Amino acid sequence: MIKVLRLNSFLILMSLSLFMVSPVVGEDGEQDDHHSTRGLMRGERLFYGLIDGKFESKACADCHNTVEIDSFNWNPNAWEIAHKFKGRSLEEFQRAVLNPAGQTMSEMHKTFSLNEVDVDMIKLFLDDFEHRGLTKSKPVINKIFLFILLGVLLTWIILDIFFFKKVKRRYILGIIFIVAVAWQVKLVHEAGTALGRQEFYEPDQPIKFSHVVHVADNQIDCQYCHNTVSHSKSAGIPDVGVCWNCHSIVREGTHSGKHQINKVVEAYEGGTPIEWIRIHNLQDHAFFSHAQHVTVGKIECATCHGAIEEMDRVRQVTDMSMGWCINCHRDTEVQFFDNAFYAQYEELQKKMKSGEIDRVTAELTGGTECSKCHY
Ligand code: HEC
Ligand code: HEC
Ligand code: HEC
Ligand code: HEC
Ligand code: HEC
Ligand code: HEC
Repeated sequence: MIKVLRLNSFLILMSLSLFMVSPVVGEDGEQDDHHSTRGLMRGERLFYGLIDGKFESKACADCHNTVEIDSFNWNPNAWEIAHKFKGRSLEEFQRAVLNPAGQTMSEMHKTFSLNEVDVDMIKLFLDDFEHRGLTKSKPVINKIFLFILLGVLLTWIILDIFFFKKVKRRYILGIIFIVAVAWQVKLVHEAGTALGRQEFYEPDQPIKFSHVVHVADNQIDCQYCHNTVSHSKSAGIPDVGVCWNCHSIVREGTHSGKHQINKVVEAYEGGTPIEWIRIHNLQDHAFFSHAQHVTVGKIECATCHGAIEEMDRVRQVTDMSMGWCINCHRDTEVQFFDNAFYAQYEELQKKMKSGEIDRVTAELTGGTECSKCHY
């Protein structure tokens, strides 16, 4: 047992040391001279708030995250600002940091005392940061890593059983073996289901569009933006022209200031579509129609999408598997009378009237037949 522990800690130490050696140099390959390298390092320390007396409370990195995060952040991340100012002049950057336009930014940017030289150094750091990008969050790496570690452990156990025969109490090896295999299976299973299914999928969008701000705070109807939902298969994502109806006038938001809405302005004026990341996505062989559910079935958006008006960032709340569709069709009673759509089901109409059946579910109207949902 002790040997196993030792081996484990050895492996962990070894791999830790591998992970410590991370590349720091830029990819350009150009030799930085001594001066700007030091400027860059000081810029980095300033950005993280590691130099005393410059920040009252929050440093740049506390608002402009440099690491990928799972949670929603109204502030632009460090890469976004680095990218935006990459080719621009120092003066422009100084203005944005020290003499910001707009209410939100003046509010956020008043708690530090930096001079222009400091800000220039921060720009050096951000230019360098721009081609490194946000630091990836760790969980994925940890999982792959854990998987490999377990693999090494398993190999070692097999080698010991057949060749080395160092461990006397065989059953211990057996137990560790089973636990390690089970763990690996669990990891593979998690990764596998995450591939096809995407429950809880909640990506960052190119513009921080919030349903809380628009639906809950400003009472805009879902169908104002998703304007094909009642009569077509797809609900539709509004194009930037719809945003422009309001944002030709509304140029600053309470949470995000000008930065996000500026992207709307740029997309509209530049004629470039906003590349929203699609969240709900059935496989191609499955057929789903919004009109059928919203108009005929009279099902609320929230039944399938959850409380969208409470989401700053849209999240998929069900697994949208075949079982999910079928279960609902079995359970949900349709409003059979007063609905022209159901006139076509004469057999069912008779049975309902004669009292042979007392409710009609989506299953009875054919909602569990393969061909209704599969091409
Ligand atoms: C002001 C316009 C607007 C209004 C109002 C609005 N949405 Fe959206 N909705 C969007 C935009 C833009 C996106 C794409 C960006 C995103 O995912 O946040 C979106 C995304 C979505 C998505 C995810 C789409 C996908 O990619 O799978 C759902 C679901 C959704 N909205 C439902 C609703 C519901 C339900 C309401 C009413 C409670 C509503 N929306 C009101 C603009 C709007
Ligand atoms: C019917 C009017 C209307 C439409 C359409 C509309 N918005 Fe807005 N939007 C507003 C209002 C009002 C605010 C709130 C301003 C505030 O915070 O005071 C806002 C705020 C925002 C904000 C800043 C949020 C914050 O609090 O910082 C962003 C970003 C935004 N909208 C993006 C969009 C995008 C993208 C679209 C198109 C898909 C869109 N809006 C469509 C009215 C609209
Ligand atoms: C308390 C949070 C906070 C801190 C601290 C902060 N910022 Fe900001 N910063 C913001 C917000 C919010 C915006 C977007 C405001 C807007 O666009 O109106 C912003 C915008 C910016 C922009 C301009 C983006 C644009 O679209 O023009 C730059 C550049 C910037 N910050 C750099 C910095 C630097 C450098 C520091 C540290 C010296 C810093 N910020 C510290 C919150 C913060
Ligand atoms: C019966 C469940 C159900 C109801 C009710 C429903 N949706 Fe959907 N919604 C889905 C499914 C399933 C998808 C994925 C469709 C696909 O990938 O083909 C989807 C996708 C979307 C999308 C992504 C773009 C698209 O059209 O595929 C938006 C936006 C959306 N729904 C908005 C709404 C709004 C707004 C309502 C209410 C008016 C609503 N949905 C009602 C199940 C539903
Ligand atoms: C919240 C409950 C609910 C969910 C979830 C749901 N449906 Fe439905 N569906 C209904 C109801 C109610 C009807 C009945 C309307 C009707 O008779 O057409 C219906 C009707 C249908 C029809 C038409 C059947 C016919 O007889 O013509 C199809 C196709 C369909 N759904 C596909 C799907 C698919 C695919 C999914 C999953 C991605 C799904 N539905 C998820 C409630 C649901
Ligand atoms: C109410 C709609 C509906 C009905 C009825 C239905 N399916 Fe599906 N089926 C789906 C959806 C939706 C998916 C895709 C789920 C996803 O995207 O992950 C699917 C996926 C599948 C898959 C792919 C396996 C998988 O999990 O991705 C097969 C195979 C399949 N269905 C066969 C059938 C057969 C056979 C029948 C008839 C007995 C049937 N389906 C009836 C909605 C339905």
